[in-house]
Amino acid sequence: MATELDPVNLMKQQVGQAAAARVQSGSIVGLGTGSTTAFAIQALGDRLKSGELKDIKGVTTSFQAIVLAKEYGIPLTTLDQVDHIDVAIDGADEVDPQKNLIKGGGAAHTQEKIVDSFADQFIVVVDGGKLVDKLGTTFLLPVEVIPMAMSPAMQAIEKLGGKPQLRMGVKKAGPVITDQGNFVIDVKFAQGIDDPAELEKTLNNIPGVLENGLFVGVASLILVGEIVDGKPIVREIS
Ligand code: A5P
Repeated sequence: MATELDPVNLMKQQVGQAAAARVQSGSIVGLGTGSTTAFAIQALGDRLKSGELKDIKGVTTSFQAIVLAKEYGIPLTTLDQVDHIDVAIDGADEVDPQKNLIKGGGAAHTQEKIVDSFADQFIVVVDGGKLVDKLGTTFLLPVEVIPMAMSPAMQAIEKLGGKPQLRMGVKKAGPVITDQGNFVIDVKFAQGIDDPAELEKTLNNIPGVLENGLFVGVASLILVGEIVDGKPIVREIS
């Protein structure tokens, strides 16, 4: 199957499998969102099916993760039923040298931040194209807002120097609606983000903002899929 994938998906698959290989029997596992994490969820299901892995429970971050967990046979639990998460596996849209992240390309960053932050270990799975020197330079920053707050929130974001745009649906008329029923505003910062920790707090302080996609000091380990000499490898940044 691996040979049928294009190079980017091959990297994603390798890195997803590498993350799933670190999960131990009996663990409570945060199941992230996105195309890279989808490979990790599939690999967890494969390990369960083969009997190599036993007795894990997943805590999902999105409807996508719920659907995939069902498809690959991963039993689920909720945050109300556990007092900890052993390990969370999730993707990212940008990763800086301090392991700070931008997430939310799939509009799932609110639940992702809750689950990933609660985990004892948060493993980030990315392909090499996600590594940046400064956050906000290649990807717009997603901000989830409740619908009636859209206009004042956009004005407040402009005052902070950001250029906001409402995320529109694909194969759906009108804006993207998050799993919580809200809108996503994607924000461009022309020079990138100088102080991610400060901006994360400032944005979340705007009335009507639920959560933004800056994940500062949350990641424990980054697994990076790369192609070296034509072969996929997984590099660790800890
Ligand atoms: C979901 O909202 C995001 O945070 C994803 O985890 C992120 O966009 C990475 O997705 P891919 O692995 O598909 O690039």
